[in-house]
Amino acid sequence: MARTTNHPIPHSSRANPIEVDGTSFALNGKNISYRFHVDSAAGDLILNHFGGPVTEDPVAQIIPNGGGWSNQAHLRREFPDLGRGDFRTPAVHIKHAKGFALCDFKYQSHTVMKGKPALHNLPCTFGSSDEVATLIVHLWDSCSAVAADLSYSIFPNYDAIVRSVTITNKGRDTISVEKLASLSVDFPHDDYDMLQLQGEWTRECTRARRKVDYGLQGFGSSTGYSSHYHNPFLSLVSPSTTESQGDAWGFSLIYTGSFNIEVEKSPQGLTRVLVGMNPCQLSWPLNPGESLESPECVSVFSDSGIGNMSRKFHRLYRQNLIKSKFVYEPRPVLLNSWEGLYFDFDESTIYRLAQASANLGVKLFVLDDGWFGDKHPRINDKAGLGDWVVNPKRFPNGLKLLAENISRLEAANSKETLRFGLWVEPEMINRSSTLYEEHPEWVLHAGDYLRSETRQQLVLNAALPEVQEFIITSVASILENMPVTYIKWDNNRGIHESPTPANHHAYILGMYRIFEVLTSRFPDVLWEGCASGGGRYDAGILQYFPQVWTSDNTDALDRIYIQFGTSLVYPPSTMGAHVSAVPNDVTGRTTPIRFRAHVAMMGGSFGLELDPDALPEDDKAQIPDLIALAEKISPIIIRGDMWRLNLPEASNYPSALFISEDGNQAVLFAFQIRTTGVHNYPLLRLEGLDPSATYKLDGERTLSGATLMNGGIQYRFGSDYDSKVVLLEKI
Ligand code: GLA
Repeated sequence: MARTTNHPIPHSSRANPIEVDGTSFALNGKNISYRFHVDSAAGDLILNHFGGPVTEDPVAQIIPNGGGWSNQAHLRREFPDLGRGDFRTPAVHIKHAKGFALCDFKYQSHTVMKGKPALHNLPCTFGSSDEVATLIVHLWDSCSAVAADLSYSIFPNYDAIVRSVTITNKGRDTISVEKLASLSVDFPHDDYDMLQLQGEWTRECTRARRKVDYGLQGFGSSTGYSSHYHNPFLSLVSPSTTESQGDAWGFSLIYTGSFNIEVEKSPQGLTRVLVGMNPCQLSWPLNPGESLESPECVSVFSDSGIGNMSRKFHRLYRQNLIKSKFVYEPRPVLLNSWEGLYFDFDESTIYRLAQASANLGVKLFVLDDGWFGDKHPRINDKAGLGDWVVNPKRFPNGLKLLAENISRLEAANSKETLRFGLWVEPEMINRSSTLYEEHPEWVLHAGDYLRSETRQQLVLNAALPEVQEFIITSVASILENMPVTYIKWDNNRGIHESPTPANHHAYILGMYRIFEVLTSRFPDVLWEGCASGGGRYDAGILQYFPQVWTSDNTDALDRIYIQFGTSLVYPPSTMGAHVSAVPNDVTGRTTPIRFRAHVAMMGGSFGLELDPDALPEDDKAQIPDLIALAEKISPIIIRGDMWRLNLPEASNYPSALFISEDGNQAVLFAFQIRTTGVHNYPLLRLEGLDPSATYKLDGERTLSGATLMNGGIQYRFGSDYDSKVVLLEKI
């Protein structure tokens, strides 16, 4: 006989964010509903709906007894454990002292609260009692005396639900948590595509879309970090969903360590999504009385395409994840020394570069790798990491004095003096360093196994409190002793050897402690994350660092793909994007300086990464105007909404529109990749404008929002790599 599961929780736009009726729960966003209930017989949590707003549970016809071999296969389980006859991949796997690997979590009670409690040692979303409400469902496995608390926080304005799980051992024996997904959600029978961001060094965040098929498909990282390979983000979309139409669910894990995303279409047609830490690097021992918190996973839903899903993430992350005081601040235009000089510099070349930067109107000068190491000077990548003392040969008068002198230089066309920033890579160590001579035991290793190197470096074990203290003291002493206003925190290799699987997570917890201590102690410093470019571009890092170096690939054409891909989940305000010299060092491609600058302006932290004195005069002469334009539009990039109009994967004319928060200003970026002989230009139809408003374009012609969106606008392009940046103002 067919059973239905109908629960009478009403939904309205004014509905409470969390409504409970007995043991039925509804989370209500502006434009989403998430509903689940307790199955009274099994005590299991069963999902009724996750999608657009509904006023009651959808009518579900359920296969009697599941059919076939499984009595669970038909169930949309909120926290699937092992055993009970659910043969799909589980969200939780615990090894008990007696060797059992089963669980039998049953509903016990629940708590509803305004606001949202913070996790204890992991980054997490935050919000006032007006912004977010939380439901915690307490589950209990009486056979093993293990508790599981599922936390659901809803941010109604962003249609976002944040979930995490805490496992507590209330028994008398030590258990081991082998797997703990932050999020598990079972989708009803339907066809879906999965959209992910894959890549490598210099080609991060490349969009990849494929059909969800029967069986298990997924991706993750085992590098110890979130990685260039796959980003901890997944979107499930309907096959017909586009940027601006159709259903899109997004899942973003707030975690910087190795992760695991699984999508399983069961033989019965349901699709399960699991997002969490990588189980191969967990085996987390829990002694009696101890708890393990999972990272948070943020889910958003959009019924109007992938672009809207992205904008919900962007707004939520700016408002309720990034703690830095700079989150809504336009960032100073910077010049970074790396691509201009690499390791080849001394005091006078750095001062010359800083002077040249100031003369162009740059506001922040960043000295990258190579400034440190005394006994083992870092004059290449073979030595010095770990020795955070200034290289006395390169800086015979000390770096402090140089930094002070640089900080006195006046930036052209402004009253500002130059700020000074530094590169560090504090998690790493070269064998050739004083630190390694003194503390070889601080390096991540596994017994007698080889300590294998990448880029001639090893990783410090940040799980150790003494290593945490060393890193905190080293970085704090730089900041206390020099006028440094910006830090680029790099990380240039993955983790190979680890003493235990659990040490991977312990390392990340150690790093979070370090970030928390340093960023709270130095809130006026602008912190930028980096890991050979975007190897650690994740929501966990963003809690502490408001911006990340998006990629070591500064080729402007590749950057359109990388930046558009990154924007699927991360706000453009968080992207570091620089103009470098041509031919590009990574790709060998030559593009015009305007094109390079226009692409970089789509990132929140615009900069140069070149030696201005080595540029062709013509290019150099254009830089002050390009900087002025970047500064003019920066508030819109930092605080506004991004609309991806044409994707580079699909169009020779990639384009994006950024609209200010109040809708009064917008900036359009339009690019032509290749020139095409005797061929019409496309009509670019804008999105997100007010149809009834009139906009002035670049202070010249005026057009209505309706015309711009429904009719469009055509630009004439010239040669390859041509570009337009157009400012729109509502009048
Ligand atoms: C990494 C970074 C670069 C640069 C170098 C310095 O590759 O991504 O931007 O800082 O390290 O070694």
